[in-house]
Amino acid sequence: MTRKVALITGGARGIGFGIAKCLAKEGFDLALNDIRDESLLEAPLRELRNFGAKVIYCRGDIASSRGRDSIIDKIKTHYGSLNVLVNNAGVAPRERKDILETTEKDFEFVIKTNLQGTYFLSQAVSNWMIEQKKADPGFQACIINISSISATVASVNRGEYCIAKAGVSMTTQLFAVRLGEFDIPVFEIRPGVIATDMTAGVKDKYDKLIEEGLCVQKRWGIPNDVGLAVAALVRGDFPYSTGQVIMVDGGMAIPRL
Ligand code: NAI
Repeated sequence: MTRKVALITGGARGIGFGIAKCLAKEGFDLALNDIRDESLLEAPLRELRNFGAKVIYCRGDIASSRGRDSIIDKIKTHYGSLNVLVNNAGVAPRERKDILETTEKDFEFVIKTNLQGTYFLSQAVSNWMIEQKKADPGFQACIINISSISATVASVNRGEYCIAKAGVSMTTQLFAVRLGEFDIPVFEIRPGVIATDMTAGVKDKYDKLIEEGLCVQKRWGIPNDVGLAVAALVRGDFPYSTGQVIMVDGGMAIPRL
């Protein structure tokens, strides 16, 4: 049997790397994307290969069409197929600024990566998945978008991030609807506060908030929490739920009194 292939964007560290580990354990071969040079990623790539997975590194900026094309070309050349796309790559604002002060440059940087990159990579991969599905009706495919509780929780000091993640949410629904006829499910995973490099700079703030009850489950999330949710989705454990949001936030989004 041929092994299935998963592309994880921004997979070299943090949540993406946690997802990659879970999918390697699940028996997937991987196309790991990130923007850093491969020579800097020897350790994470070795760790993934130690699970028995074939792993290729597809360096490329998902915010640019050239970057997206080169990622897909490399997967086509190397594996010739792609079953799973995990749109994980994302950036925080370079500097948190009040929405009364955000510049267009700040806004564009976040939107281009988190929303535009996710949308157009999904578009390119969807077209390829449809071709594969037409050639082989038994071909299994799915797309998973990593959004954030910021898709619905307003933070006025990073409006561009919230808007991008709200857009990722609608992207999930749009592609779920469009790909329905091809039996390609699309899901959104909405993480809360996860311990990664992205949140390292706000660790003290969130340590305190978590201690004070920010989440129902009184701890930071870890990349493996998200990876396990992705593994369940790609295994097909949610066969009648396309377009849905899976919360991975320790109960943070439950309104409480
Ligand atoms: P991170 O900053 O630790 O890792 C992100 C990875 O994406 C990095 O390796 C980075 O090089 C890569 N990347 C950034 N821009 C890229 C681009 N244009 N093309 C390709 N790769 C790119 O971040 P973290 O925390 O692992 O976040 C992963 C995703 O999860 C992001 O979309 C983020 O918005 C989302 N998220 C994170 C949460 C958290 O608390 N850490 C909470 C909710 C969502």
